[in-house]
Amino acid sequence: METTDKQFILTFLEVITALVFITLVILVLANQIGSSVDEGKISQALIERSNERIRPVGQVNLKSQGLTAAEKPVAEISVTEPAKATVVLDQNIGEKIYGENCQSCHQSGIAGAPVVGNIQEWQRRLSVGGKDKLYSSALRGLGAMPIKGGNPSLSDAEVKAAVDFMIQSSQ
Ligand code: HEC
Repeated sequence: METTDKQFILTFLEVITALVFITLVILVLANQIGSSVDEGKISQALIERSNERIRPVGQVNLKSQGLTAAEKPVAEISVTEPAKATVVLDQNIGEKIYGENCQSCHQSGIAGAPVVGNIQEWQRRLSVGGKDKLYSSALRGLGAMPIKGGNPSLSDAEVKAAVDFMIQSSQ
């Protein structure tokens, strides 16, 4: 090899080495700058900005304040509807239990049973110990009335629902 060739190769290698070094430095720098930026913050800000840009021109103004159009139906379904349904169901159960187990004595006053609809009589019995006393009488029996009106298979809640119905029907 001639000396010019050697020199050329040496210079060439030097240049290549310098270029590789610079590349490495740039890589390291880029990496550090990149990792020092909070990605969560950036994307959050980006999302907010894009949301602002694509925001609808007009929005439906619902009566109930504070709810957006999208939230309103969800709130109505999950909160209001089931609550209503439960109340109706309870009343029906009380009336049903009464009709099947208590009416036989309490409609006509058999054996001295307080007649449902006799406001004064139920007022008097309520004044003795409130609803709780009436519940426990119906659950444990009282005088000529057997335990749970003679149907021990009824749950406590069912008997109480029947008592509630009787009280409501005698006000
Ligand atoms: C066999 C007839 C009979 C049946 C059936 C019957 N009762 Fe009675 N019930 C009575 C009689 C009699 C009394 C009055 C007892 C007394 O005051 O000595 C009475 C009283 C009550 C009282 C008032 C208790 C108090 O403390 O003043 C409630 C409440 C009551 N019954 C609820 C019910 C319910 C609820 C049922 C059905 C699950 C039912 N009864 C079924 C005969 C009956």
